[in-house]
Amino acid sequence: MAETEPLRPMTARPSGALKGEVRVPGDKSISHRALMIGAVAVGRTRIDGLLEGEDVLCTAEALRRLGVTVTRIDAATYEVSGVGVGGLAQPEQILDMGNSGTGARLLVGLIGTHPLSAHMTGDASLCRRPMMRVIEPLSQMGVRFDAQPGGRLPMLVRGARLPVPIEYRLPVASAQVKSSIILAGLNTPGATTVIEPEATRDHTELMLAHFGAHLDIRRDRDGARRITLTGQPELTARNVLVPGDPSSAAFAAVAALIVPGSDITIHNIGTNPLRVGLYQTLGEMGAEIAFENKREEAGEPVADLRVRASRLKGVEVPAERAPSMIDEYPILAVAAAFAEGSTVMHGLAELRVKESDRLTAICEGLRAIGADVREQGDTLIVTGRGGALPGGGPVVTHYDHRIAMSFLVAGLACDKGVAVDDGRAIVTSFPGFEGLMRGLGADITTAAA
Ligand code: S3P
Repeated sequence: MAETEPLRPMTARPSGALKGEVRVPGDKSISHRALMIGAVAVGRTRIDGLLEGEDVLCTAEALRRLGVTVTRIDAATYEVSGVGVGGLAQPEQILDMGNSGTGARLLVGLIGTHPLSAHMTGDASLCRRPMMRVIEPLSQMGVRFDAQPGGRLPMLVRGARLPVPIEYRLPVASAQVKSSIILAGLNTPGATTVIEPEATRDHTELMLAHFGAHLDIRRDRDGARRITLTGQPELTARNVLVPGDPSSAAFAAVAALIVPGSDITIHNIGTNPLRVGLYQTLGEMGAEIAFENKREEAGEPVADLRVRASRLKGVEVPAERAPSMIDEYPILAVAAAFAEGSTVMHGLAELRVKESDRLTAICEGLRAIGADVREQGDTLIVTGRGGALPGGGPVVTHYDHRIAMSFLVAGLACDKGVAVDDGRAIVTSFPGFEGLMRGLGADITTAAA
């Protein structure tokens, strides 16, 4: 639901024990990558379990504008007719990436080494987010940008005709920046190398290997991860099965932890080790979460998650863990508010440049529902008393899907429930959130317009 539509107030009321078995929509990160890599493979790629959230649908539409045929076969099943590496066409229309930082940053890399020029834009939130982090390395490869002051969207991207490979050390731990450079390396002769001092989600590397690219991944002496792609590979279309998104599952999981008596199972969740920092942290807090039926699907580890209501205690979350749970701090902060003692979360600077300034949004929201929260630089400290909070609101969500869902989850265990001012952005990553939660017994409603 676009940011230009009227606000969508939502309310969560105290609920009885959550019970049942559910599946959450497909992984957002893997869905973007399946579409983009399928687009430059030779042949037809079938994707099952694709996330039909607005972020991913924007990527699909942008690829169509670049000459790729992307067909919806059925719910969550898509077919991409790839044009081969270097085969994207000059778009006649603007590429509108909506709310999606991942879509924008990855696509700019993919198109940047094609001899085409493209206008790219996004919604008001995306147009505030930093693009310099990709403009800088891609410029070294020969891509030219006419961006807004500070390196923001909307911008004109002029692809390099003769791209040059680079070796680039990431100044911020960002899978988006890493992936943007690797995708640019696809249509670049020679070896493109990205060095990441802290490992970030490796879905791009796994998916490219699945499609037949040659990647060399090793550790430098200082422990940094060095990823080298051999350019201009022939990628072959492959089938992709997208697992459920662990970042979406997190909302149902924390809801079950904090609503007394709950016992739920979330099937088919991606458990890539570089994504499961939240679950590790919740385990340390005393959460009863079991990873059952562990298996591998299309190169990604998958399991079913059984979650039972648990007494949580505060813990210290080290900065090094941030990349593996970067999207989960809003929901972790909610869990922490119901735990006993203080949870100290370090290294959260990147939260300031997400879909909203999440550090501020978390603090303001928690205060609005009566929780004890402090911000010290890039550290967040949430102190709970091990029981229900007063609740209230309305919590201001700043058109941020994860802020909206986190505070609705909090409302299920608050005395007065929680109102949020706006749940429109939920469809960017988790269409069906309200229905899925209601199916588990959660009292979540959208106010009548
Ligand atoms: C993503 C990387 C992360 C994450 C985002 C998805 C990806 O962003 O917050 O939701 O798919 O690569 P950063 O690269 O900015 O950390």
